[in-house]
Amino acid sequence: MTLYIFFFFLPLTGHLTFVLYLFCFPNSQPLCPPQYAQTVPLPEKSSLSEAPKSEKTPPKPIVLLWFWPENFRFSFSDCKTLMDIDGCSLTDDRSLYSEADAVLIFHKSIKHDSSNLPPSPRPPAQRWIWFHVESPTNTIKIPGLENLFNLTLSYRLDSDILVRYQLFVRETPEEHFEMPRKDKLVCWIVSNNNPYTGTGLRTKYFNELRKYIKITLFGKAYGSFLKYEDYYPTISSCKFYLAFENSIHRDYITEKFNAPLAAGTVPVVLGPPRQNYENFAPSNAFIHVDDFPTPKELAEYLLRLDKDDNLYRSYFQWRRHLEAKPHFVLQNQEFIKPICTACDYIGKHNEYRAPTNIYKWYFS
Ligand SMILES: *[C@@H]1O[C@H](CO)[C@@H](O)[C@H](O)[C@H]1NC(C)=O
Repeated sequence: MTLYIFFFFLPLTGHLTFVLYLFCFPNSQPLCPPQYAQTVPLPEKSSLSEAPKSEKTPPKPIVLLWFWPENFRFSFSDCKTLMDIDGCSLTDDRSLYSEADAVLIFHKSIKHDSSNLPPSPRPPAQRWIWFHVESPTNTIKIPGLENLFNLTLSYRLDSDILVRYQLFVRETPEEHFEMPRKDKLVCWIVSNNNPYTGTGLRTKYFNELRKYIKITLFGKAYGSFLKYEDYYPTISSCKFYLAFENSIHRDYITEKFNAPLAAGTVPVVLGPPRQNYENFAPSNAFIHVDDFPTPKELAEYLLRLDKDDNLYRSYFQWRRHLEAKPHFVLQNQEFIKPICTACDYIGKHNEYRAPTNIYKWYFS
């Protein structure tokens, strides 16, 4: 402002102003003329640059978690400590509803009459995120949700907010891969259903396959319940791991596939076609059941690999340049990744998004 006063008065008062200017710089001196310039309207730009520079960063957008999925709670600070995500302010405090920039709504917790959705009126600039990680087979179509959600969060590659386990390019190639010690041939951890009596495709396949090759089972259903800390070591100790999905859908390739890749084991996959798996992992990182006309022939191939170490090792070549990271296995950590990923997204995006017809999209 001092400079501005100077140029403004220079034509009128000439040298005197110049002397005063030098004397008055900084202009707290008692001899200085009154600050006439205060009455002169300043161009907007210069008044902006005069504003005291704030040290504070702008407030982070608020993301309101409307339901705790399956009631598995964690501390929101885990996003920073476990995933290095800090781009939003996460809360489960519903009294912040009208201020929230986005609301994260877990599909499975919505009541069939949708009476437990956030209330009307909905803040006009607020985005709602449809949060769903089950396959379409295991999705209940709750009526009335078709045009409420601006953003989708799921495993599907074409979701707005993508949550899945992916391979990463290594910064430096892995020079030597120490093969974990193996004392079992084929393993399968089944958490829910009884694999002998189920009706799905994977049960049928398993019951055929086990006629020709030994399969070691783990899971609640037969008393060999695995402790969380034994999850990765157990998978590592098997040559092959059955990564059988509970239903067959595009992109529905879950942590069952990530686990053996991260543990140093070869996944044998049953799910969408091989081509879809190859969107997520190199072709020689896994064995697909569709590569064989029958379960018997798959079993024969696995037995052959068991004898041929060079061929078996070729399934680990991808590791030189790529890396699979272990996912969280504790139950109450299951939703950390999707919730933190939503926070990260909202911290980086504020575009308008017209509502999506979620069912038309999800069941397509
Ligand atoms: C979000 O979707 C709603 C309709 O469900 C719409 O009214 C609103 O303008 C959208 N908001 C943004 C910010 O995309």
